[in-house]
Amino acid sequence: MDTPLARELADLSARRRLLESVDIDFTGDTRILTVSNQKGGVGKTTSAVNVASALAGLGAKVLVIDLDPQGNASTALGVPHNADTPSVYDVLIEDLPLADIVQQSPEDKNLFCAPSTIHLAGAEIELVAQVAREHRLRRALDDYLVDNPMDFVIIDCPPSLGLLTINAFTAASEVFIPIQCEYYALEGLSQLLGSIQMIQKHLNPGLHLSTILLTMFDGRTRLAQQVADEVRTHFPDQVLDTVIPRSVRVSEAPSFGQTVIAYDGQSAGAVAYREAAVEIASRTATQSKEK
Ligand SMILES: Nc1ncnc2c1ncn2[C@@H]1O[C@H](COP(=O)(O)OP(=O)(O)OP(=O)(O)O)[C@@H](O)[C@H]1O
Ligand SMILES: [Mg+2]
Repeated sequence: MDTPLARELADLSARRRLLESVDIDFTGDTRILTVSNQKGGVGKTTSAVNVASALAGLGAKVLVIDLDPQGNASTALGVPHNADTPSVYDVLIEDLPLADIVQQSPEDKNLFCAPSTIHLAGAEIELVAQVAREHRLRRALDDYLVDNPMDFVIIDCPPSLGLLTINAFTAASEVFIPIQCEYYALEGLSQLLGSIQMIQKHLNPGLHLSTILLTMFDGRTRLAQQVADEVRTHFPDQVLDTVIPRSVRVSEAPSFGQTVIAYDGQSAGAVAYREAAVEIASRTATQSKEK
């Protein structure tokens, strides 16, 4: 039967087969990406954990740092993060080594998470009084990576441009911005780009915007297509070819303490995140810097 649904399913199985044949060699330097957008609910956490899990599935060693007091990334990675759990808070405020808080995700032996707890909500204010307050994550991460080599570190930021996000920008070399294909998608983007420029100038000259991912795409609406076209026109080199569709499987996975990669790895949303991971892994850090 040649219906749009039949074509879509055939297309999805072809993409699944292609993913099975992907073979990537992870031997380069650690790439540190910070997933940021001060707009709330655009898919930062969903993109951080699913790209991380997909990269781990490709054989990369991946650390996710949960910098959001909401702790959604820790939840999705199945890592305990109640009030008593040693967390990123203790690293930033109490100088605890990152190695003391990192947990392995039950999802993949290559996937690790530095959990956040509710205490992190106070860190934004407590950091103000700390020495080297913008560099605390970078220092902790530098120390950690000496004994725990990683192929990727992915930092999930809260929806703000406060000191937690500044710590992420200072620790990372690449900024990864998820953009939701809806009204006002580009609103606030110039503020975000301005912040990145400020960080480049004053704190971290190596920081650059390497990756933009279009999320929650609904192909039935013209608006989503218009937003996607507009973003591609502005950022032709940074936008990934892969677009993440709106998918119920993606949104229900966290309630099982899983990413969609583990929850339903062959679903349309999981296949898209796995393709996004392949695209990200295929661009080396230096390539993305040249762009
Ligand atoms: N592709 C998708 N399809 C359906 N739902 C999605 C998709 N991506 C994300 N969602 C849902 O949208 C909501 C917001 O996503 P997410 O938590 O990843 O955004 P966020 O940018 O991290 O939010 P915050 O700013 O609060 O940290 C969540 O309920 C998530 O499950
Ligand atoms: Mg989030």
